[in-house]
Amino acid sequence: MAQLIDGRALARALDAKTAAAVAEMAAAGLPRPGLAVVLLGDDPASQIYVRRKIAACREVGIRSFEHRLPAATTQDALLTLIARLNADPEVHGILCQVPLPPHIDQRMILGAIDPAKDVDGFHPVNVGRLSTGTGGIVPCTPLGVMMLIDTVAGDLTGMNAVVIGKSNIVGKPIAMLLLEREATVTVTHIHTANLPAITREADIIVAAAGAPDLVRGSWVKPGAIIIDVGISRIRGEDGRERLVGDVAFAEMDHAGAVSPVPGGVGPMTIACLLSNTVKAARIIADPQPAGSDTEDEDEWQDVPGRSLFADS
Ligand code: GUN
Repeated sequence: MAQLIDGRALARALDAKTAAAVAEMAAAGLPRPGLAVVLLGDDPASQIYVRRKIAACREVGIRSFEHRLPAATTQDALLTLIARLNADPEVHGILCQVPLPPHIDQRMILGAIDPAKDVDGFHPVNVGRLSTGTGGIVPCTPLGVMMLIDTVAGDLTGMNAVVIGKSNIVGKPIAMLLLEREATVTVTHIHTANLPAITREADIIVAAAGAPDLVRGSWVKPGAIIIDVGISRIRGEDGRERLVGDVAFAEMDHAGAVSPVPGGVGPMTIACLLSNTVKAARIIADPQPAGSDTEDEDEWQDVPGRSLFADS
């Protein structure tokens, strides 16, 4: 029987750390961390995600500033809002929920967010820092994936890791993080030939394709670590909607460890958003010279994946 990787439990542990860090900042007379969340339009999935993010802020003591704008909001108006949030001393993190409506140039908007407040880690400066292993803010889902891996694996040096999916938000940054840990990384995607033959060589599989039950039991070698990033809504034979991942969970008995959907990566994404917001607030309150280590990092020592909190 494969070990179940419990994302809910790990997210709770990380949230407790984040709440303690918020309380410590308050005790030190520092400002309460604040997260601005921007949502354009009424996409139902985005509405749910944003509502969860705002509620999660409240749980750990982070202030939240919600900006719900009509789908027809112009690009200039959005850029003006972002400039205002960049300059607002009460805002330490800015999250602009994607996808944005088609008339908005997403790249321009994400690039307009101050990299120091880019708690999503989507700004080219943070992407570049991740690619070069020079700190910066790490995107939330990839950070959560690495923390989940850290609960069941130690040194990743020389391990074969296969990432399914090459998105800028998930696949590519996860590949960078695995490379940083000295894994041998293969990034695969929709055009990859003979994917099962590649995954069968993997010690770690990160499935982020958004394709329900793509990864079958026969694709997985015994003992492999399987992280399922996919979340799809499908209607079952009983007519009910349910969430399914990219991994055929019922066929994973021979795996070493597997993260479920729901209850795996999902809770970690929000917990990492909160910890990224506190990290940003601390750095804004007390900037360190580039490349320096800080004592603050020690506080994160017993959180798996702590090496990813390397300060810029
Ligand atoms: N849409 C889906 N996931 C995310 C995320 O992590 N951040 C933002 N900004 N938008 C998203």
